[in-house]
Amino acid sequence: MVNSHFIVAVLLVSFTCTTSIHSIWIGNVGFQNRTWAQAISLAKDFVSKLTLEEKCNMTGGVAGGCVGNVLPIPRLNFNGMCYQDSPSGVGDRVAHSTAFSAGIHIAATWDRNLGYQRAAAIGREFRGKGVHFALGPMMNMDRNARHGRDWEGFGADPYLSGENAFAYVQGVQDQGVVATAKHYICNEQETNRNPGFLARENRVNPNARIAYSANLDDKTMHEIYLWPFASSVAAGLGSIMCSYNQVNGTPACQNDKTLNGLLKGELQFPGNVMSDWGATKSGVESALGGLDIDMPRGGDFLGSAILPAVKNGSVSESRITDMIIRNMAPFYLLGQDEGFPQLDLDRDASGNNYIVNREVAAAGMILLKNTNNALPINPSTDNMVYVYGGAAGQSDEGYRSGASQQHIGALYQGGGSGFVDPAYGIDPLSSLMHKSRDNHVQIRYVTNQNDFGAINSSFHDRGFTGAKCLVFISAFSSEGADRHDLYSLDGGENLVQIVAANCPKTIVIVNSVAQLNLEPWIDHPNVVGVLWSGMPGQEYGPALADILFGDYNPGGKLVFTLAKKDTDFGTDISTTMVSEYTEGVFLDYRHFEQKDITPRYYFGFGLSYTTFTFSQLDISKSNNENKQSASAQYRQTRTRSYSNFGSSGLYDPVYEIKFTLTNTGKVNGSEVPQLYLGFPAEAQQPRKVLRGFDRVYLGPGQSKQVSLVLTQKDISYWNVVKQQWIVAPGDYTVWISTSANNADVKLQSSFHE
Ligand code: BGC
Repeated sequence: MVNSHFIVAVLLVSFTCTTSIHSIWIGNVGFQNRTWAQAISLAKDFVSKLTLEEKCNMTGGVAGGCVGNVLPIPRLNFNGMCYQDSPSGVGDRVAHSTAFSAGIHIAATWDRNLGYQRAAAIGREFRGKGVHFALGPMMNMDRNARHGRDWEGFGADPYLSGENAFAYVQGVQDQGVVATAKHYICNEQETNRNPGFLARENRVNPNARIAYSANLDDKTMHEIYLWPFASSVAAGLGSIMCSYNQVNGTPACQNDKTLNGLLKGELQFPGNVMSDWGATKSGVESALGGLDIDMPRGGDFLGSAILPAVKNGSVSESRITDMIIRNMAPFYLLGQDEGFPQLDLDRDASGNNYIVNREVAAAGMILLKNTNNALPINPSTDNMVYVYGGAAGQSDEGYRSGASQQHIGALYQGGGSGFVDPAYGIDPLSSLMHKSRDNHVQIRYVTNQNDFGAINSSFHDRGFTGAKCLVFISAFSSEGADRHDLYSLDGGENLVQIVAANCPKTIVIVNSVAQLNLEPWIDHPNVVGVLWSGMPGQEYGPALADILFGDYNPGGKLVFTLAKKDTDFGTDISTTMVSEYTEGVFLDYRHFEQKDITPRYYFGFGLSYTTFTFSQLDISKSNNENKQSASAQYRQTRTRSYSNFGSSGLYDPVYEIKFTLTNTGKVNGSEVPQLYLGFPAEAQQPRKVLRGFDRVYLGPGQSKQVSLVLTQKDISYWNVVKQQWIVAPGDYTVWISTSANNADVKLQSSFHE
């Protein structure tokens, strides 16, 4: 039940939390604080007690209670390990789980603090149920708007995705649960991802088992697709999942270049590589190519099947030993050898996680259109509200939204292995009922959006004139299939048009997995408001109602561009067995700018119920003296015993960008200043790329000095000849903006290297 005291409490949290953002990065509590060196030494000790047969057996998963299980060795008091989905809560259909808002939704908050808090809550549930490895974060790029899994990831920009991955890894691992970054790498579509998966005979038949190949160049790999994975490794990531697809013609789970070269070599990743479920295509090539464990079963290629190859010398025993060390090191790193909870996947470990879940649900919603302040609903003038659309209420099928493209009802998450069966899900209509009672607003609804008789007759209701009409539309997608198009379910576009033709104050709520084509109705003069409600998790209703009634000021921002034409994206699902990443680094807003295409809504865009001004931009370069303190400051909240920043200095701060942000409106609210960087020509970059942001919450009239830090890597480009991150000499432009639209730039300056 919603009561005003609770809302005040939530608002206080939301509007004060960023002032204490750093204090919330608390570090691990309640378990061993080990370094990687200590963990690896314990893992070496463990493996030294295993026979060759046992070692081989441990390179494949075994049957057990979780979606993935590691062989127990009772002789050594080792009870095995549990791997379990998903990135946004404990999944695979277990009981008593919180369905958190999805990856795409937390990214839309642009709030690292909330990202950390959400991940910590997710980690607590995994740990509470006794799960050792959480199969998240999912961080494939939103390269293709129709990709069925975009909702699980963090959007279309590598920097944004990397910052989210960083917060996620530390939030989960601070609870003593290993995070698993997936799917490594370039798994940006479902079509042809694993054609031979279903039948075992296909799985071992080399002609039937080959997936599509993502083909890309080295610069694009480093600057776009590897970037977020590099951030997750720097955070201290324990595990990585290689993907179904091929990369440049070699399967991702036996790809020497991407696994041994980039991941374990260049990024110095000390943890284990697990295969996606059924993604292993070979034994010897995979073991030599960098795979450490075949999931979910080793029988075909690894596990006991690899023993003959070790005996005949095709794979060295030291490589098998290395695989076990890597599989065990994350377990020791996070102290799972001491006092880890017994496995019980149905145990309720949700605590008060609904609070952060509700907060994130609200923070990730994006106000796209608000003509003449149509929102928020003002109960003294808007005392009649009409609700239309199946997406406003509950589905007839319960919460099983993982089920179908035809799903009608509020969507809490998308489908597939990423879907978490919610312990409960509160739909918008239910929450609007509560708000209506509290605010003396009358509410009417038609949730059967094909009942045109009921819809049309509602327009003749007593009191309809002057009412605000909320139209709910949704778009679903799932793992295993890409979307057919970028339109909503069950004729949602038609519904908006019918309502807008009759209701001068039509407000559309878009409950969508990822990009949607808004063109059929967005310019209708009666569509005075559009709120993107995203994939908000099981606290959808309360979060949305707070925004619609002005109890929470929306501040989310788009994490992808919304195009006018689907072809404007310039990238799409490949239906052949090859996906050529010929756009290179020109993805999403970088591409729209390069080709001079005006989108409907820009990457980074989102409105608020208040207004902001920006002033006093100052750029300072870290010198040796303040570098120490800036460096310490930048890292202190993020350094963990398990952090892995590497020795290259790439994550050292080199510039500090400060400016003042002021809330000039009448209500509490937040803004997301975004730092876009322009490089000298040598770097061969898009005109501008995102390299900083913060979500800043301010009361009316309040000002704050915002500080954004550029690291060495942030100002570098990948030099393919030198095979290094290089700072190009010349002028760099710094734009502080509120979206990727040049018209939204608020402050501009430059520095010289
Ligand atoms: C998915 C992974 C998931 C695994 C285990 C695969 O189909 O691609 O993301 O973790 O199944 O359920």
